[in-house]
Amino acid sequence: MCGIVAYLGDKQAYPILIKGLQRLEYRGYDSAGVALIDDELLLYKKQGKVADLEEYLKDKNVKGNIGIAHTRWATHGEPSDINAHPHFSRSKKLAIIHNGIIENYCTLKKELFKRGYTFQSETDTEVLIHLIEDIQINENVELLEAVRIALNQVVGAYAIVIIAKDNPNQLIVARKGSPLVIGVGEKEFFVASDATPIVEHTTNVVYLNEEEIAVLNRNGDIKLINIKNQKKTPYIEKLELNLHEIEKDGYAHFMLKEIHEQPRSIRDTMRGRINSSRNILSLGGITDYERRLINAKRIIIVACGTSWHAGLVGEYLFEDLARIPVEVEYASEFRYRNPIINEDDVVIAISQSGETADTLAAIELAKSKGATIIGICNVVGSSIARATHAGSYTHAGPEIGVASTKAFTAQVTILTMMALMISFKKGVITKSKYHQLLGEIELIPEKVEKVLKTENKIKGIAEEFINSRNFLYLGRGYNFPVALEGALKLKEISYIHAEGYPAAEMKHGPIALIDAEMPVVVVATKKGIYEKVISNIMEVKARKGKIIAVVTEGDVAVKALADYIIEIPETEELLVPLVATIPLQLLSYYIAVMRGCDVDKPRNLAKSVTVE
Ligand code: AGP
Repeated sequence: MCGIVAYLGDKQAYPILIKGLQRLEYRGYDSAGVALIDDELLLYKKQGKVADLEEYLKDKNVKGNIGIAHTRWATHGEPSDINAHPHFSRSKKLAIIHNGIIENYCTLKKELFKRGYTFQSETDTEVLIHLIEDIQINENVELLEAVRIALNQVVGAYAIVIIAKDNPNQLIVARKGSPLVIGVGEKEFFVASDATPIVEHTTNVVYLNEEEIAVLNRNGDIKLINIKNQKKTPYIEKLELNLHEIEKDGYAHFMLKEIHEQPRSIRDTMRGRINSSRNILSLGGITDYERRLINAKRIIIVACGTSWHAGLVGEYLFEDLARIPVEVEYASEFRYRNPIINEDDVVIAISQSGETADTLAAIELAKSKGATIIGICNVVGSSIARATHAGSYTHAGPEIGVASTKAFTAQVTILTMMALMISFKKGVITKSKYHQLLGEIELIPEKVEKVLKTENKIKGIAEEFINSRNFLYLGRGYNFPVALEGALKLKEISYIHAEGYPAAEMKHGPIALIDAEMPVVVVATKKGIYEKVISNIMEVKARKGKIIAVVTEGDVAVKALADYIIEIPETEELLVPLVATIPLQLLSYYIAVMRGCDVDKPRNLAKSVTVE
């Protein structure tokens, strides 16, 4: 939530900042702003997308070789020019950008108010910059010390960058609970919420740790301390990110590119981990914790949104293959409901971004009760990846589209490998079954490629439903989470109301909604409880609902009943989610595009939810 970029060096800052904001726009896009020092401290901000800010700045003075910029996802105060960042201090000598939430901002604001401060915006961020300046003046300390003292008074999460009119040779940055990366060039610095704005300038980066403050100087020096005033050593790492991974590569949208990347991303998730001809399956990141999983009395999976749906597939996999009881929890509920957590529980935390605040808090809670925490994250070095005892990266590559696609299939691929490996090591499946499943997993990318070739057909189906107001998605067994994910995808990007249900649950309520206007997407692949799903389809047909069915190639029975058919290649039942999800992603994508929606930046959403 919210993207921050900053630059200090010899170059003009504005072009670097604006391009950086475009790269970070997936994090929030309701308003944007920039502050630069060119003798004066100049500050411009605008409600709307980064393009609106760019248009507004066409004829303004945007000179300066130091600057900060921000793209916002509103928390405190509606999206507006005034609430947009950066925010000035009272003297207008300091400007700040901020990602996160200052939870005790009301108390701090009241204190400042008593001392005569007034506030232009409704934001918590403006309170923080007033507090910093107040400390600087009243305690007569340097800006760094004022920032440090202020951050000790703050409860909540922050990634901040501050510039000072009186010192155009310095950026002050700090973080707690919100991500921040510093790119280190030749006597120049780039700061951003993630590495995507930095990679085209330098591959040398420093990831700030919790409660660290850095002072970046024009002469190339970095001073690093924590908020307790302990000196720290900056650790420079090499970025492993290619520019083409964060560009659209000729696709109309990142989401479409990411859907099409799945044969490659699933292969990358498996790379070096699986080899059926040698009967090898190993997840290096969890080797030291395998025994804990094998002996676990219970697995608790915590996640949010799409990652939670991947977790549901994980529940079926671990119970089915490894015979370990699994509970799948929304991280936001888990953290507040006094859950029972034992030392022999293993918690698997799933997160694409690795920054989701609720998932992070659920991990901390489980850790404090002695459970072992295993992470499944996409973003390398993210907060969740660092907070867990061990984990497996999904290696799906950067996911920029706000609606998660390739991250989901990568998460399910990891869970499948994990459950299979544990079941074999636990001795609950035979060697021949293990071998056969390894071979089947390796075939998944080809099967996904085949589904992607049905894109035009899916586009044709989408065209029929662009005016629908509701959708129902049904599936049973492994296909139930697929139905939930299909419904989430549609509502996120097309704003059509959609519900996912276990097919048999339909008769307990949702059936009341079915009439000739109600499209029902049924994931009705062979095996499992196929016959029972056919009965559910009959129930829909009897009430004139329109059936769009995802079926196994060569299917006859469902074909005879459904209005529209999407065929997918046959695979093992437990691997079906990896293939059946693809057509549902494409269906949502085309419906949304034909309705004129901004699929990469759907309204009200942000890619990485770093607030509660
Ligand atoms: C997915 O399409 C969503 N945008 C959202 O539900 C997302 O999956 C959720 O916020 C969790 O994010 P995470 O995987 O980064 O933790």
